[in-house]
Amino acid sequence: MGAQSRYFLISPDVQNPGRVCLWRVVRVSAVSALLPIVSICIGAPLLIYFFPELMQHLFFLNFRRMPMTDYDNVTSNGVKTAGRSFHLQGEAGRIGAWHMLPQSLADTPMSDDEMEALLGDQRYPVVLYAHGNSFDRTIAHRCELYNVLTAAGYQVVSFDYRGYGDSEGSPTEGGIVNDTRVVYDYVRMHTKENAIVVWGHSMGTGVCTRLTKELSLARNAPAGLVLESPFNNLRDAVMNHPFSIPIRWMTRGMIDRLVLNPLRSVGLVMESDERITHITCPILILHAEDDHIIPVKLGRALKEAAESSKRDVEYVEFPKTREFAHKFIYTAPELPEIVSKFVSRCRSAAASPSPSMTSSPAEPAPTATISS
Ligand SMILES: *[C@@H]1O[C@H](CO)[C@@H](O)[C@H](O)[C@H]1NC(C)=O
Ligand SMILES: *[C@@H]1O[C@H](CO)[C@@H](O)[C@H](O)[C@H]1NC(C)=O
Repeated sequence: MGAQSRYFLISPDVQNPGRVCLWRVVRVSAVSALLPIVSICIGAPLLIYFFPELMQHLFFLNFRRMPMTDYDNVTSNGVKTAGRSFHLQGEAGRIGAWHMLPQSLADTPMSDDEMEALLGDQRYPVVLYAHGNSFDRTIAHRCELYNVLTAAGYQVVSFDYRGYGDSEGSPTEGGIVNDTRVVYDYVRMHTKENAIVVWGHSMGTGVCTRLTKELSLARNAPAGLVLESPFNNLRDAVMNHPFSIPIRWMTRGMIDRLVLNPLRSVGLVMESDERITHITCPILILHAEDDHIIPVKLGRALKEAAESSKRDVEYVEFPKTREFAHKFIYTAPELPEIVSKFVSRCRSAAASPSPSMTSSPAEPAPTATISS
């Protein structure tokens, strides 16, 4: 009887040393597999909370550079037209930039002054390109877009924000918007009546939306704004980015306190869905359905924000079967046609501005608009 009851008090595993051993192995490996996952899920938000600058670096990814890049030789980077590398003086130091000619003029010898003067030639509208995070203006998919645009007869000005490429300083949201403004002002000074289309990709869409809002409020909007693979706001961009998987378990309130507020404290806001409602020039949004970095629903949300405030917005979505993902929209054979129609629309909008587009819809008190 005593032996029998003891027999049943012991866990069944103990009767079988093989199973005990297996159970331990399973437990130990489960713990060792879960431990890193759990520490990432808890550690990541704590890191952001205590070191918002770290998260800012992860956001900007400006420390990534290709070795041996020759920033001064435009064609050595895969650009198929003649171009000039030059520097502008920003508030954080030197800003590296390229001015690339329409390919039809690639063989026409031109001095720097003649190239600058070309910016005002209305046969060749200017695209001012603001790139996404990581690497710089010399990276292949960016150069391939310059090639598509210069083949279509545009001149392209591309540059690096502070802390990227050969530009000095280190990035902040306000800082990289100001740098874009420096390049815009330079281009504007030389274009005179010629059209400038501001073109942002990915992170650059947040930059360009903020800049174009500020320019719109100052009644100095560019001819048009192209947003390639954009997001609606920082919260959704962060929460839908593949890197955010470890923090997706958190509630909205926790995300605000632990992730977004620290980012706001260092000036990272990127609220394009609010800013786009103040933009007075035509807007073209391009997004691929299979974008895995910025899901297409964020681009659609930005389009809806523009539409609901009656902005002049055109939205083009490329189906996932075309596999353009986050950075291959430039391969679409119809892209030059889309851009050309858009630029014509920008020009006629500039020639006869509709009353609703000459100012922001519900212009808030000036103090409220200057802050962002
Ligand atoms: C720039 O790069 C191109 C292509 O690599 C090369 O042919 C050219 O000689 C270079 N120009 C200068 C000034 O080094
Ligand atoms: C950017 O420009 C604004 C307005 O001129 C200025 O207040 C701000 O300090 C500048 N720099 C940064 C890093 O935001």
